[in-house]
Amino acid sequence: MTIDVGILGATGAVGQQFIALLAGHPWFRIAWLGASQRSEGKPYRDATSWRLPAPIADDIARLPVRPATPADAPRLVFSALDAGVAGEIEGAFAEAGHLIVSNSRNYRMDPTVPLLIPEVNADHLALLRAQGNARGWKGRIVTNPNCSTVVLSMALAPLRQFGLSKVMVTTLQAVSGAGYPGVPSWDILGNVIPFIEGEEEKIETETKKILGCLREGRVDPHPVTISAQTTRVAVQNGHTVSVSVAFDNPPPREAIVDALVSFKGRPQDHHLPSAPSRPIVYLSERNRPQPVLDAGRDGGMTVSVGRLRACPLFDYKFIALGHNTIRGAAGAAILNAELMHQDGLL
Ligand SMILES: NC(=O)c1ccc[n+]([C@@H]2O[C@H](COP(=O)([O-])OP(=O)(O)OC[C@H]3O[C@@H](n4cnc5c(N)ncnc54)[C@H](OP(=O)(O)O)[C@@H]3O)[C@@H](O)[C@H]2O)c1
Repeated sequence: MTIDVGILGATGAVGQQFIALLAGHPWFRIAWLGASQRSEGKPYRDATSWRLPAPIADDIARLPVRPATPADAPRLVFSALDAGVAGEIEGAFAEAGHLIVSNSRNYRMDPTVPLLIPEVNADHLALLRAQGNARGWKGRIVTNPNCSTVVLSMALAPLRQFGLSKVMVTTLQAVSGAGYPGVPSWDILGNVIPFIEGEEEKIETETKKILGCLREGRVDPHPVTISAQTTRVAVQNGHTVSVSVAFDNPPPREAIVDALVSFKGRPQDHHLPSAPSRPIVYLSERNRPQPVLDAGRDGGMTVSVGRLRACPLFDYKFIALGHNTIRGAAGAAILNAELMHQDGLL
């Protein structure tokens, strides 16, 4: 039995990735596409500037793009809306009884909204119980993190056991993270832009919620102190993060590598369709991970870590990398919905 799904913001960079990843999905079938008035009424192929290598399936290419209103949308809707409009539109869908699985920032830090990475904090789905009463919605909203936050949080999650106390992170973020057409080529070619609006704050706050503990129906943020700097670089896909970490009880280096490579969660236990066999790989070559070689690993759902070594200021430093529109966006949301299906929440 397949479940009909809708995609809000279907024409953008993340929306396209939803379309590509949901083609042939064993549980979900794309039945509805929504975007702005610019796209409304057009067949999908004419409304989007398709940027992915695989062609659009014919049946999807012909689907008309609908207005971003709940009227005839299926109950389960993935959202890849521009954050400027996502708050209002996603709220209207939730109020009308839809389950919104969102990429946008607008509801991530709401105390009753799960900010989910299924391998890390699947138990945070329990927040949904309080959401209906708190918000007065018939439906619900579940979110996935910011695209750099996912990479950092997945790399840090296995390290919580060592008393994670301080993290310093610098990101090198791909241009596809800014949507399409995104950053002008004059600004980015041969250049590094040392500012991405709101990104440092998202990394510093979202990571603590994701790594936090669910107690008495609410999330206590993890007490780690995080300092983030973010940059945009001339890379097409894949966000790299350069991380230094301090621990209350610094472990030997081998214990960190073991913790990273043995890390797994409910998606792996239940063999969810989009789950990578290993959420984190450790690459021992001294010049890895690299976006061109490693961002697409295991369908873009695996985070690659390398260059773990002692840090003279903190305890250790390392590099991590993940695919920003797959593990950082559409793939993350699909995995969230698969977990919700597994839990009987759809
Ligand atoms: N790119 C990434 O790596 C990434 C990663 C994680 C999270 N995100 C988040 O995911 C969301 C989408 O990002 P993106 O990179 O795909 O952006 P994008 O390429 O700019 O696409 C934005 C989408 O929003 C739609 N939209 C804009 N204004 C609208 C309106 N008034 N009503 C209805 N739809 C409207 C656009 O439709 P039209 O084509 O009709 O204008 C388009 O489908 C953002 O919230 C972003 O922060 C992005």
